[in-house]
Amino acid sequence: MNPTSDPTASPFGTVFCKYMSTARSSDNGYVYGGEVEPYGDIAFSPAAHVLHYGSALFEGMKAHRQADGTLAIFRLDDHVRRMQRSSISMRLPAPDFDLLRTMIIDTVEANSREVPKPPGSLYIRPALVGTEPNIGAAATPSSSALLFIVNCPVGDYFKGGIRPLTLLLEENIPRTTPQFGMVKAGANYAMALGPTLDAMAATPGIDQLLFATDGGISETGAANFFVLDDDRLVTRSLDSSFLHGVTRASIIELASDLGYVVEERSIQAAELQEWALKGEAFLAGTAAVISPVGTILAKGESIQFGDGLPGVNTMKLRDALVQIQNGKADDGHQWLTKVAG
Ligand SMILES: Cc1ncc(COP(=O)(O)O)c(C=O)c1O
Repeated sequence: MNPTSDPTASPFGTVFCKYMSTARSSDNGYVYGGEVEPYGDIAFSPAAHVLHYGSALFEGMKAHRQADGTLAIFRLDDHVRRMQRSSISMRLPAPDFDLLRTMIIDTVEANSREVPKPPGSLYIRPALVGTEPNIGAAATPSSSALLFIVNCPVGDYFKGGIRPLTLLLEENIPRTTPQFGMVKAGANYAMALGPTLDAMAATPGIDQLLFATDGGISETGAANFFVLDDDRLVTRSLDSSFLHGVTRASIIELASDLGYVVEERSIQAAELQEWALKGEAFLAGTAAVISPVGTILAKGESIQFGDGLPGVNTMKLRDALVQIQNGKADDGHQWLTKVAG
């Protein structure tokens, strides 16, 4: 990274920190040498399982510079557990909890000098890919795997900072298969890409597709969906069709702390107009944080939430979350893991 440039001004995820960590699977679990290494290319066979049969999964979390100058990772253990669950679903050898946790912490500590100040943060990307060199293995799992962790200094995920987003409701094409939505598999993102690009070309100005094919609204390509008013917060109840966001879980707890009634239930497209009249909508995720939704295009109609500005309840929840992440509010839920640096 060029130390004179501002990495948070570059598009999200395009600037990489100096160090990464890797571990290869063995009969006795993943082997990690206990040392980070310089960020650089990784090698595997052109016959590697991942290159042919898509055995790839990942995680995404952030480390935040704290108000007192220390450094902390937000909900590290929850992300580690979700990665273990994803690897089991993908039939890849699951990394040991402590090993994965240690690798993440080591990598962040090695890159700590590159953590931007808030509102920037350090994005942490662990990934796991099947490396068995066997192009006959279409119907068998990869017997070997590579686990690696890279970091990026990041700013805003959506271009233009905090602004009300425009979503297009997609009621025909699913984001992925219903049983696989909760897995953070690379293939899910590949499947959503074509429909999203086609929709963006057909309807200029939309930021994201809002998928609603599995009995109600589920999520966008990279964030969970919420509607709310002054008293209530509603989001889809957990099922296998969508990613169980760690941010989603955090918002549910924060909203309860703040006195909102939280409903976890399916949200029907037919409800959106009513919510738009009296309430607000937002997207939530590690990258998106809490991003207000201003317009949803649905069934040829344009449903407008609010007056073009981010909603007050949305921003109240966003502030509550961000203040904890940045160590400016009490971490009553113990979501932060302090690391050196
Ligand atoms: C499809 C999808 N849904 C939801 C989320 C939000 O999950 P989290 O809050 O754990 O980042 C993400 C973000 O990674 C995602 O890719």
